[in-house]
Amino acid sequence: MIVGIPCETFPGERRVALVPAIAQRFAKAGLDVLLEGGAGAAAGFPDEQYREKGANVAASRDEVFRAADVVLQVRAFSANPDAGRADLTRLRKGQVLIGLAEPLSAREAIQELARTGVTLLALELLPRITRAQGMDVLSSQATISGYKAVLLAAERLPRMFPMLMTAAGTVAAARVFVIGAGVAGLQAIATARRLGAVVHAYDVRPAVREQVESLGAKFVEMPLEAAGAEGAGGYAQAMDEAFYQRQRELMARVLTASDVVITTAAVPGRKAPVLITGEMVRSMPPGSVIVDLAAEQGGNCELTRPGETFEADGVSILGPLNLPASVPYHASQMYAKNISTFLLSLIKDGQLHLDLEDEVTAGTLVIRDGLIVHPRVREVLGLAEPASVERTGA
Ligand code: NAI
Repeated sequence: MIVGIPCETFPGERRVALVPAIAQRFAKAGLDVLLEGGAGAAAGFPDEQYREKGANVAASRDEVFRAADVVLQVRAFSANPDAGRADLTRLRKGQVLIGLAEPLSAREAIQELARTGVTLLALELLPRITRAQGMDVLSSQATISGYKAVLLAAERLPRMFPMLMTAAGTVAAARVFVIGAGVAGLQAIATARRLGAVVHAYDVRPAVREQVESLGAKFVEMPLEAAGAEGAGGYAQAMDEAFYQRQRELMARVLTASDVVITTAAVPGRKAPVLITGEMVRSMPPGSVIVDLAAEQGGNCELTRPGETFEADGVSILGPLNLPASVPYHASQMYAKNISTFLLSLIKDGQLHLDLEDEVTAGTLVIRDGLIVHPRVREVLGLAEPASVERTGA
């Protein structure tokens, strides 16, 4: 079986789906790796290192798609519909694509992909169960985003993070408020603590309080009725507008006392909730910084402009996109570990085996031989009852 690794073509993408060490793991499992020349270069992995680990390097992208039984990507076409469009004519029936694919939001592109006859496994849909932890690209990449968000904030803030007592006087520690203590939020807390900041955090899921406190941050108490906030797989559920209104009121006082706010609040398949209004931004100390990690889903701050950094009333607002690509070496290393664990779990006797009795396979299989089979994706695309489509609102 040939596993193809094309260059990533999304603008600014520097990650690669496979690193040399994992190519060796595939070789041991009897899989042949065919890499498009230069695919790992931006992440710090030259072709030569792949060759040393037993991979073949193809002269062209066409060759990779022609030969590969399975194509591994960071962003499959549906997660890269403009630059990735040229790949549509390269795909063929029976070929298997594995990668990030935005299956719940890229409606048109998912249908275009299906028309090529491929099989698509979307890693965003991986069930969050213990057995799948080693395959969880959302977690590994969110870890990097949380870390990098703190560095961006520290770089922008006109203050230092640590408390210092020097002959030139005492410097107060920066006050950081992290909203949303999932994977990215917890890493942001840990990173800000390492830099010496005083950190507060809040999450709508009460279960995370203990994790927040174990990292040395203070969990902000809010008299909000958050029962039912935690849904399947440990994810947050969408709450109603009255809840978010109350949350904004309660958070306002924490915001006025924060130098840095890092927002990561997300609800899968939905637009991110707006938790910081323009008025709340105006109440923050001058020079303070908001890093909105939910920018990709519309932003937790009303003023966020995805992909931009700007100042409003003396407050810097950053809406970074694709942060894991800014740490491409480790992001690729972690991504490759995840995707290879996933692929190897699907291989029996040297052949790909899609067992729909398996929770991980059934959870991620979006398209099978050109047919969109994933119930939730079908629902979002209106391929199910109209009433259930309205209910998702995604
Ligand atoms: P995410 O990226 O979807 O959301 C980030 C955070 O925002 C979540 O913690 C969520 O509760 C929070 N949030 C949503 N609305 C909010 C609001 N209005 N105010 C404040 N916070 C809000 O989630 P992520 O980080 O990908 O994972 C969430 C959880 O999933 C983890 O903490 C864990 O419990 C579970 N998980 C389980 C795994 C496993 O068992 N294999 C692996 C990874 C995560």
